[in-house]
Amino acid sequence: MLEVRNLVVRYGGITALNSVSITVPKTETVILVGANGAGKSSLINAIIGMVPISEGSIVLNGTDLGKILPYDRANQGIGYSPEGRRVFPTMTVRDNVLAGASRLGRAGQSAIYEKLADLFPMLEERANHYAGFLSGGQQQMVAIARAMSASPRLLLLDEPFLGLAPVWIEQISKAIRAFRAEGVTVLMTEQMAVPALKVATSGYVMRTGHILRQGTVDELRSTALEEEYL
Ligand SMILES: Nc1ncnc2c1ncn2[C@@H]1O[C@H](COP(=O)(O)OP(=O)(O)O)[C@@H](O)[C@H]1O
Ligand SMILES: [Mg+2]
Repeated sequence: MLEVRNLVVRYGGITALNSVSITVPKTETVILVGANGAGKSSLINAIIGMVPISEGSIVLNGTDLGKILPYDRANQGIGYSPEGRRVFPTMTVRDNVLAGASRLGRAGQSAIYEKLADLFPMLEERANHYAGFLSGGQQQMVAIARAMSASPRLLLLDEPFLGLAPVWIEQISKAIRAFRAEGVTVLMTEQMAVPALKVATSGYVMRTGHILRQGTVDELRSTALEEEYL
């Protein structure tokens, strides 16, 4: 579904990604594990067009994303939840979530909101609360629900577990599994390998701008035991 080939991303003189190649097969959940600064966000942001590509290609379902404008990438069926769960603090939970579904009519928006509230009951309970007053875990759910509100086929989650208590990680993991069951392909990043390996099907370990290793979750789990990223 998603093919990243020999991707190079530079910020001025800094090379953040040095010839990175990954494959995200349809309906799988792939994790990028790596410490702070490994280049995980740069990869995600290159896919959505937020950072320019210096070299290499990103092909989604046969379309070379480097050849279309960032604005048009929204039409490619990509949903994105940013690192640090940037919700709009002075907007309600409902408005935050539906900001991702502005193309739908009222009935469509209500339907998608109800569907997402089945996965995240807090969307129902806190629909009219300002997002800025929510806990970190709840804000993360709002950010993920917003990314899912346009019914993307590819969901990009940048560090969805960062700083969250296990109870929230469990709920978010459950939702990610439910998305996969519906046929959504997921690419997520994490610094913490343990919870991410429980939800993913395969993954990559990144270090300072390159892929250190790749494999199924079982393969990564066994090698991770010997290395510091677990
Ligand atoms: N906007 C930027 N300008 C300059 N350097 C950046 C910028 N964003 C990231 N970097 C650098 O690129 C490298 C990779 O960062 P990033 O992709 O954010 O890694 P991660 O998400 O794995 O923490 C780091 O060395 C970081 O300092
Ligand atoms: Mg990051």
